Amino acid sequence: MKKFTVVAGMAAALMLGTSAFATDVEVTHWWTSGGEAAAVAEFAKAFDATGNKWVDGAIAGSGDTARPIIISRILGGNPMGATQLNPGKDADDLIAADLMLDLSELATQEDWKSIINPTSQLDSCTYNGKVYCVPVNLHSGQWMWLNRKVYEDNGLAVPTNWNEFVASAGDIQAKGIIPLSMANGWAVGAALGPIEIAVSGVDNYVKIRKDRDIELAAGPEGRKVWEALDATRKLVDPANIVPQWNDAVAQVIRGEAAANIMGDWAGGEFAVAGLVAGKDFDCLPGLGLAPVLDTGGDVFYFPKNADPEVTKAQLVLASTLLKKETQVAFNLKKGSLPIRLDIDISTANDCMQKGLEILKSGAAFPSGSQMLDRDSLNQITDLQNNFFADQNVTVDEAQAQFVEIIKNAPPL
Ligand code: GAL
Repeated sequence: MKKFTVVAGMAAALMLGTSAFATDVEVTHWWTSGGEAAAVAEFAKAFDATGNKWVDGAIAGSGDTARPIIISRILGGNPMGATQLNPGKDADDLIAADLMLDLSELATQEDWKSIINPTSQLDSCTYNGKVYCVPVNLHSGQWMWLNRKVYEDNGLAVPTNWNEFVASAGDIQAKGIIPLSMANGWAVGAALGPIEIAVSGVDNYVKIRKDRDIELAAGPEGRKVWEALDATRKLVDPANIVPQWNDAVAQVIRGEAAANIMGDWAGGEFAVAGLVAGKDFDCLPGLGLAPVLDTGGDVFYFPKNADPEVTKAQLVLASTLLKKETQVAFNLKKGSLPIRLDIDISTANDCMQKGLEILKSGAAFPSGSQMLDRDSLNQITDLQNNFFADQNVTVDEAQAQFVEIIKNAPPL
């Protein structure tokens, strides 16, 4: 009887497209905060349930730390089985070098074209007409997170938008509380981008980055943005700038800071802390001014592997990440929007529901990595960090440097 059971088990597993034997797939990503770890555990659980094994390859730090490590491993002939990256061009050189698994057949079989919403995310995974990554969520950057108690305990109205926040920031400072928490590096850009959109509008933001409208960037509209960023840096004491984005979010969660501007992955941190949106904290998309969201997020690529068993397991993983039940389990913990809308997320919190409303309204726009190459994005981040760190850098100098970066950015 035993022998029969084993054979039947193998046959069933093969029919279901899963392997009869657990195949290890090493998966690299940079999800190491509380919320991110809780979310990626849902991916691992779903993949392990297929009879394969998710070997976690978390890389501490941010995408800026992880991307070069991921890319050099693949180029250096020491590829992982799968890796997270952002939608955009980060993997283009790897694909051009024929190092990445073509997922087109699976994408056709599972009709990703009609499942994945918005289709821009599948377009970002398509290179020369072939599909090389699977989008797994939508993350947008234009969110402000406020600790309601900080305002209520100090007899202040909880701001409903960026302008109201700025107006009462002095009162918050007078209470010895950090008005706007800030983390170093890319997190400065993550805060300043949404302020630019709040001040100058999403159309101008896209015109400058996507259409490379130099005149707009160099003109009075562009200057207005740097003046707003100048006012913002005056709200941030450099001594209070913390290392990682989730440290700055934690300051708001603990009530040491009133607010933080960060992508909706911050929602995962509030969830892990057990705080309730609308009661303990507020999340303001578009900083409460114009409800917009960018189509940032995460995608998974699969470096080519010599072992056909691994290739089979890679395809099972790509398929599993997109499954309805996996999408619900992962995104509810990640704070991101699902990459398909044919699922039930009635248990989603207030923030995710706000994001879905904006997405359905059509007010989505391309993320930075879908409009500019990584090097130009990094140059903008460096400029913004320098502007914050050195208050002697004038508005005119910063604006001129920004114009140069946009002028020299290669076509995407
Ligand atoms: C982004 C990524 C998000 C989030 C964030 C902070 O690049 O898309 O999933 O985790 O980094 O680590």
